[in-house]
Amino acid sequence: MVALDRKAHALELAQRPRRNRKSDWTRRLVREHKLDVDDLIWPVFLVDGAGKREAVVSMPGVFRYSIDAALEAIVEAAALGVPAVALFPNTDPALRDPRGSAALDPENLVCRASREIKKAVPDIGVITDVALDPYTSHGHDGVLVGDEIVNDETVAILCAQAVNQARAGADVIAPSDMMDGRIGAIRVALDAEGFENVQIMSYAAKYASAFYGPFRDAIGTNKTLRGDKRTYQMDPANSDEALREVALDLEQGADMVMVKPGLPYLDIVRRVAETFRRPTFAYQVSGEYAMIEAAAANGWLDGERAMLESLLAFKRAGAAGILTYFAVRAAKILRGAAQS
Ligand code: PBG
Repeated sequence: MVALDRKAHALELAQRPRRNRKSDWTRRLVREHKLDVDDLIWPVFLVDGAGKREAVVSMPGVFRYSIDAALEAIVEAAALGVPAVALFPNTDPALRDPRGSAALDPENLVCRASREIKKAVPDIGVITDVALDPYTSHGHDGVLVGDEIVNDETVAILCAQAVNQARAGADVIAPSDMMDGRIGAIRVALDAEGFENVQIMSYAAKYASAFYGPFRDAIGTNKTLRGDKRTYQMDPANSDEALREVALDLEQGADMVMVKPGLPYLDIVRRVAETFRRPTFAYQVSGEYAMIEAAAANGWLDGERAMLESLLAFKRAGAAGILTYFAVRAAKILRGAAQS
């Protein structure tokens, strides 16, 4: 062994970052960020019928639930301490039309489910998605005129959809449509109907992403979607534009903002959280879930560790919370760890 030069030692090895990592107790002591059950929002897919729990093939471990089965699963999520669920309907194709009329039906799947959940599990937050894609025959989030998704006409319908959901008991309205001006319009519409305490979680920076594929399988829009969503969802090449979108939604009254997808857009999560210092959420979307599950199923990575590491990464980037299909699984692990 060559003796260390004293000067080099003084300069370089007085600092040994590994000292703080030498054992579990010290790693825990210096840890900067922590994932908690309170950070998790569970997206739940709904389908008509009773006693149903249909597998979503491209999302192993994720199901479409009929309302009764969803209630059972949500009771479990609430018992684990998951703060909120986000509801997504797989609408009967016979009920889909070019204008997404079923979005305004007080008896649609999401409204019926919201009422039942608030009755059976009053303490869990119910987040409902505002956008027309589960209800349109063409799979777009708005009204299609020729080749255009028309903005203002769509916003008027989204306002009625939001009020319809609030009447059914939704605690948080989450517009995921990316139309211009919808947050302000929805805020006014909700307030006018006496729903001033209903929060708005805006999908403020939502990108036109390939990672939504499995979600579209789950809600049955993959086959019907005509073209793509690039005229309303953001260009994945843009970052400053995300800050402009978030600024607009906050000005218009958003209580919480979201960046979507998640891991590929952690830089955006970081910028948004740091710039605005407002509750910023990230959506770990269906394709991200599918990637981890597919690799784990092949034995190519440790699925549980990859799940927890990916969720922690959102916290490190500055997210207040994460919408994730892993929510219940992660909550079970976090609870187990907390008890031991
Ligand atoms: C549609 C909506 C999408 C997601 C949530 N709401 C898909 C899309 O924009 O086509 C994606 C969620 C996911 O992939 O997990 N309004």
